[in-house]
Amino acid sequence: MTSLYDTVGVVGAGAMGRGIAQIAAQGGSTVRLYDTQPEAVAKARNEICSQWDRLLEKGRMDAPSVQACKARLQPAATLEALADCALVVEAIVERLDVKASLFAQLEAVVGPDAVLATNTSSLSVTAIAAGLKRPQRFAGYHFFNPVPLMKVVEVVAGLKTDPAVCEALAAYARQMGHTPVQAQDTPGFIVNHAGRGYGTEALRIVGEGVADFATVDRILKDQVGFRLGPFELMDLTALDVSHPVMESIYRQYYDEPRYRPSVITAQRLAGGVVGKKVGEGFYRYVDGKAQVAAEPPVPQVADMPPVWVSTRAARRSELYQLLKDLGAKIETGQSPSPTALSLVAPLGFDGTTVAVVERLDPARTLGIDMLVEDAATKRRVLATNPATRADMRDAAHALFARDGKAVSVIRDSGGFVTQRVVATIVNIASDICQQRICSPKDLETAVTLGLGYPLGPLAMGNRWGPTNVLEVLFNMQTVYGDPRYRPSPWLRRRGAIGLSLLHEED
Ligand code: NAI
Repeated sequence: MTSLYDTVGVVGAGAMGRGIAQIAAQGGSTVRLYDTQPEAVAKARNEICSQWDRLLEKGRMDAPSVQACKARLQPAATLEALADCALVVEAIVERLDVKASLFAQLEAVVGPDAVLATNTSSLSVTAIAAGLKRPQRFAGYHFFNPVPLMKVVEVVAGLKTDPAVCEALAAYARQMGHTPVQAQDTPGFIVNHAGRGYGTEALRIVGEGVADFATVDRILKDQVGFRLGPFELMDLTALDVSHPVMESIYRQYYDEPRYRPSVITAQRLAGGVVGKKVGEGFYRYVDGKAQVAAEPPVPQVADMPPVWVSTRAARRSELYQLLKDLGAKIETGQSPSPTALSLVAPLGFDGTTVAVVERLDPARTLGIDMLVEDAATKRRVLATNPATRADMRDAAHALFARDGKAVSVIRDSGGFVTQRVVATIVNIASDICQQRICSPKDLETAVTLGLGYPLGPLAMGNRWGPTNVLEVLFNMQTVYGDPRYRPSPWLRRRGAIGLSLLHEED
């Protein structure tokens, strides 16, 4: 196999350098692996070789390829041993001064046409390149952990990077079996920037006492199809990693409210309750398994009241059909009778405000989230307002659980759980496109491969309607008076004219 870069240097033989060295050797390059700790190189080489042995056992690689890969992976005792490398990828400690000084040394070692790349996840590529004689040959090459399994890499152009360098790095990524996406040098690049919506909005929901974290996890998994709830994800990543990322991106964007972190994670981090690796995060872990409290049981209700549905409910006809299927006594008058349970289904507004505006008795009113169509969700979400009577809450809970579907009853807030989190994810993604950090297509690729979302954020917005998402945000902005929910112009324009969020203008 001929390689785009015959000889590749990897500096730093930790978790990331090891993975990069492995896929570069598999991609056909001779790899020179260097670390200031020589034992780290030996350890890394052993581990990579045993990975290949496992792939051989599983039949994913044949014996000659394994042998060839092992021969191509060579330890480098000094930085000077990287002199013949056409590409050097750095994966050392995440410090600007240390990285800048390494690249200054490397520039003196490698040839004039060699490409230099950093695997930084949070530093500016432009800043690392600032002291270089030839910053045009320098770029970000941001892989994800574990590198051989996470098949996406962000190719990041600094201010002075030659576009041809990015193109070559993208082609080389494909040669290594990875999917490259192109990003401008901005805080968090694509994946760590787009990922701000999920956890931070979920934390706000819990912080407001709308629902507990286990309920939020259940709702987002069952209604949207996320593989892990935001709190399960934070437990897995661990707050000592994720909270500083939240703070860093927020600060780097000069306190942009969309990225505002939460005091909940700050406090838990300070208390050492950081996640699964220490046995306790949002969940407690016994033998590595999260201990999840059982859901509240479905209440027994002898006398089911008749049900009246607001004329302004989202998906009103679908909600009617659902109530019919569930065997409810439906009222069709202009206003509810004195005994009826009233249902409101707002987008972005809270049920309390809607009850007041529609002159309903708040004591007999509940909200239901109808953003996602009932057939597509495994869970229904109801919300009480501060005046909702317990018998009405229980009646609604029992009614919507009649066909065996899970029901969560949460407290009223502008936008329920799914509307808030989905709208925030779509809004942040739209702003990434608005800032031209990457193309809409690369954004979708980066997020589905890098974060494992069931859909790319823009496809998610299209799935439930840019107009609906926009309505959620406009109304939440009114409810909260918080610029955090200010819709991005990208979403505003496309939502206003009913255009796909994936549509790229000329
Ligand atoms: P690590 O701590 O596992 O490994 C770093 C290695 O670099 C160590 O073996 C250390 O001895 C070596 N090193 C430190 N300074 C050096 C120098 N001046 N010259 C040569 N070797 C040096 O770190 P990890 O997790 O592999 O991260 C490396 C880089 O990759 C960091 O910039 C990090 O931000 C970035 N990154 C990490 C991800 C992760 O999930 N761990 C994901 C994406 C990027």
